[in-house]
Amino acid sequence: MSATVLDGKKLAEDIRAELKVRVQALAARGVVPGLAVLLVGEDPASVSYVTAKEKACAEIGMRSIDRRLPAGSSEAEIVAIVEAFNADPSVNGILVQLPLPKGVNEARIIEAISPEKDVDGFTPVNIGRMVIGEPCFLPCTPHGVIKLIELAGVKTAGAHAVIVGRSNIVGKPLANLLVRKSINATVTVCHTGTKDMAEHTRRADILIACAGVPELIKADMVKPGACVIDVGVNRVDDATKAKGWRLVGDVDYKAVLEVAGALTPVPGGVGPMTITMLLYNTVESAEKTVKGS
Ligand code: GUN
Repeated sequence: MSATVLDGKKLAEDIRAELKVRVQALAARGVVPGLAVLLVGEDPASVSYVTAKEKACAEIGMRSIDRRLPAGSSEAEIVAIVEAFNADPSVNGILVQLPLPKGVNEARIIEAISPEKDVDGFTPVNIGRMVIGEPCFLPCTPHGVIKLIELAGVKTAGAHAVIVGRSNIVGKPLANLLVRKSINATVTVCHTGTKDMAEHTRRADILIACAGVPELIKADMVKPGACVIDVGVNRVDDATKAKGWRLVGDVDYKAVLEVAGALTPVPGGVGPMTITMLLYNTVESAEKTVKGS
């Protein structure tokens, strides 16, 4: 058996085409949605994520405002930029690329972002709203994962979803979204303290790998026919590549393809969906500034 490959790139393109129409409608009313992006330091993976996000904005007619600070910047300097974005009416969304350099208190920076411009859905206010089911910006990667599960066509009600990873930006919010009544899955979250992880993953109808560990999920950890979503993006050394590395997910892709019912590739699965849901949140934010839209 070979799993259906869930094409996140195609799904992302379809959603972005719809967003482009909404951006054109806003532009006709004199509003061009603006996403402010702040990158602190020069982590190569973060540089490439930020570049991809800014390119995606331009492709659908949105503006991005790019700010870069050196790795040694103080919390006060970073907060000052966030506050200027908060006050700028041409900024509809604010994104501070994570992780921030060591020594910077990430929570303090995130808390400085206005919840009404927090298109990453990372502020405590938006996380709280999400948990109690109030309108809010949903965090982009978990939201993109939900869209991919929908694409797979799996029945989520009553399904057992197992999440491997408990980060604040993926694992924890995803667990919350999957237990919503509209999705109605039963959720298990595995983490570094979990005793026999394979025992849990093998019982998953929906398995989401978001641990940041290259090829952690092997074929014998997957229930035949399961829907497997690979959130991992890991650079591993590869001397056969000109750049000396290649990207792999948290799932042993080739082997799991033979067992799973549906599987996302890396790249081309969750990554394009994360960026798309960021654009979606920013367009929603801009629309709120225009009466009657
Ligand atoms: N770092 C890794 N993923 C993300 C994301 O979705 N948003 C931000 N701001 N930083 C990240």
